[in-house]
Amino acid sequence: VKMSSMDLEKLKMTGAGRAIAVLTSGGDAQGMNAAVRAVTRMGIYVGAKVYLIYEGYQGLVDGGDNIKLAHWHSVTNIIQQGGTVIGSARCKAFTTREGRLAAAFNLVKKGITNLCVCGGDGSLTGANLFRTEWSSLLEELVQKGRITDTMAKQHNHLNIVGLVGSIDNDFCGTDMTIGADSALHRIMEIIDAIMTTAQSHQRTFVLEVMGRHCGYLALVSALASGADWLFIPEAPPQEGWEDRMCARLEGSRIKGSRLNIIIVAEGAVDIHGKPIPSTYVKDLVVKRLGYDTRVTVLGHVQRGGTPSAFDRILSSKLGVEAVIALMEASPTTPACAIGLSGNHPVRLPLMECVEMTKLVQTAMNEKRFDEAIKLRGGSFENNWNIYKLLAIQKPSHLNTAYKYLTHVLPQSNFSLAILNVGAPAAGMNAAARSAVRLALAHGHKVYAVQDGFQGLAKGEVFEMEWHSVAGWTGQGGSLLGTKRTLPNKHMEKIVETIAKFNISALLVIGGFEGYEGVLQLFEARSRYDELCIPMCVIPATISNNVPGTDFSLGADTAVNAAMEGCDKIKQSATGTKRRVFVVETMGGFCGYLATCTGIAVGADAAYIFEDPFNIHDLKTNVDHLTEKMKKDIQRGLVLRNEKCHENYTTDFIHKLYSSEGKGVFDCRVNVLGHLQQGGAPSPFDRNFGTKLGVRAVQWISERLTENFRQDRVFANSPETACVLGLNRKVIAFSPVTDLKAETDFEHRMPKVQWWFKLRPMLKMLAKYQTSFCEYVPGEIEHVTRRSISIDSGF
Ligand SMILES: *[C@@H]1O[C@H](CO)[C@@H](O)[C@H](O)[C@H]1NC(C)=O
Ligand SMILES: *[C@@H]1O[C@H](CO)[C@@H](O)[C@H](O)[C@H]1NC(C)=O
Ligand SMILES: *[C@@H]1O[C@H](CO)[C@@H](O)[C@H](O)[C@H]1NC(C)=O
Repeated sequence: VKMSSMDLEKLKMTGAGRAIAVLTSGGDAQGMNAAVRAVTRMGIYVGAKVYLIYEGYQGLVDGGDNIKLAHWHSVTNIIQQGGTVIGSARCKAFTTREGRLAAAFNLVKKGITNLCVCGGDGSLTGANLFRTEWSSLLEELVQKGRITDTMAKQHNHLNIVGLVGSIDNDFCGTDMTIGADSALHRIMEIIDAIMTTAQSHQRTFVLEVMGRHCGYLALVSALASGADWLFIPEAPPQEGWEDRMCARLEGSRIKGSRLNIIIVAEGAVDIHGKPIPSTYVKDLVVKRLGYDTRVTVLGHVQRGGTPSAFDRILSSKLGVEAVIALMEASPTTPACAIGLSGNHPVRLPLMECVEMTKLVQTAMNEKRFDEAIKLRGGSFENNWNIYKLLAIQKPSHLNTAYKYLTHVLPQSNFSLAILNVGAPAAGMNAAARSAVRLALAHGHKVYAVQDGFQGLAKGEVFEMEWHSVAGWTGQGGSLLGTKRTLPNKHMEKIVETIAKFNISALLVIGGFEGYEGVLQLFEARSRYDELCIPMCVIPATISNNVPGTDFSLGADTAVNAAMEGCDKIKQSATGTKRRVFVVETMGGFCGYLATCTGIAVGADAAYIFEDPFNIHDLKTNVDHLTEKMKKDIQRGLVLRNEKCHENYTTDFIHKLYSSEGKGVFDCRVNVLGHLQQGGAPSPFDRNFGTKLGVRAVQWISERLTENFRQDRVFANSPETACVLGLNRKVIAFSPVTDLKAETDFEHRMPKVQWWFKLRPMLKMLAKYQTSFCEYVPGEIEHVTRRSISIDSGF
């Protein structure tokens, strides 16, 4: 249901005279601050009073100074901080009725009847109990003469909304919990560091990661690091695992690997429910194989550091939605939790999700492990299947489980070529690695093409082996070599190479040029039979401007890089006088990078091409910054996409701000440049790349088999030249010809971009003139066991 501006006027009205309190509870998670900031600012935006409750439920019970009225600037400059600035404490008192009675009194005294709790499932269950008891608590307060009857009547209902903060990603119903992505960032940083030392010494590393009951962090880290073995509570290893694990480690050593990684979730158990400690695994490897083996227990490091871009943006979205859910709540709406489904916030029935989460534990306790994995959701299950698929090293030793997973018989006579096109993007190598390995496992011959379409024209084609791609997942840039050249001018030569190497399928990993290139090849099919082969594009570009997908590989890494750059730029000026930074980001005409970075760093504005602006908008923003600076705020940050306006250049904006801010602040320019392309891929891009590589090859194998007639592959339907993309949460193959109508070729981007609806939120959070007419509130999701297990979950 789209809100009209009329509805918004109503929303603003409903906020007036109402009070919202926000608290964080349980273990801290990165991104909680962004959630507190978003709830506070959205609350103020709709006209409500917002209170911050310090020290979690303890502060609610103790009252007094722990419950403070918040202003717009109470939450300035906290988005980049780790942990939670309002504190989180374990609270015994709140588990007693007496404690909850005190809490109710403290809320009623301040006129608060809306409570937003950010914490794990235990904390949210506590909030729900509080809500159900509310009227009886008020009755008791009246009886004891602590509040009047009128007060009780005025506050007769408590609205609750939950935001799930948990690094384990262990809450059913949401794709991601707040803090999980940041924890993965910490884990990958450590694995990368360990890999460099292990490689120089030929070592085996046993890494213990957090997750007492949930193997999510361990599973995704294993996928993103190409680990040799993995232990998670949801899938205890079958009897005899010791032999199989040692055989696998030996196998990879024989193939020349200098490093083995074993990942153990804290809660790993064997099939009898007996814990498998990391030291046991280490001793086993030392005893059986004599390898130099080290254990690293990551512990609290995983909670530390600065929140990732994903967590900051996620928390901002969920926080805004939480306020709207509170404003729309009535005594009959059940308590809800705000979750994420694809790119969108959704409202979930809180207690049903909690129940579902408990079912997973019950299933594990009762040794129904397949069911436990299913209950974790489609995404978890898919990760698990892909891990199993890629862990199988020798294509010749295919087992039945493998055949079942791939649905393809080994040994084909097909040759597949893989190339990178466009600018380098993080995740390209991860996609190439999994594609090469799965294609080999399908029995195909795999060629790597150096330097994109240009290399294809020149015949720069090399055969790949299983080991050629070892260690590629964590590497940035493009190891195959990439060029922007389009195929049109070299079509004859390209066709020659395809014929010469008898190439039956093309996998293009690249940006807008990759899509355009495959479109050109497709359109040349009528002239060349050689081009009647399956072709697939895996979108990979920091600009995220490829039609047919919500996300391109490399975009998440780029947003993180730009965000870290901005964090440092802001911090650099600590202790100097008031300063506004104008920061230029890449992205061509596409404003994705500038917009997402803007949300992640809490920028004052982000100018992009798609959201036209004029001199009045610039002036409004300068005035706003000047006002802000007068109010004791030291820093301003304005982002500008490189091609947002041909005349209002970065230099122009710099000069404008410098002149208008004279006497109040000075202005500096930073062009982030190529640091946005580089660096190690983020966990998301490694994982996303790995999965896209697998899906692309599965699809190609199916198309090859389908279109094989009389000793050759002949594929000429539009459905055989596709962009592989993520649309909301569904993996989709869109024919390149169908995408033509959706593409703005002049500005190299899709005509409709989903992230555009994040713009009002960016402006609102920056208190920059905006209307929320465009805001689309979260849908209400009905959680059932079935809906959770059938989501395509990527
Ligand atoms: C592959 O080619 C060989 C000989 O060239 C042939 O014997 C075999 O049947 C072919 N396999 C498939 C799956 O077509
Ligand atoms: C920029 O200025 C030129 C004249 O120098 C003008 O023709 C053009 O329309 C301007 N561009 C925009 C986007 O206003
Ligand atoms: C070329 O590849 C096809 C499979 O697409 C295979 O059937 C054929 O035998 C190959 N031709 C040569 C000359 O290798």
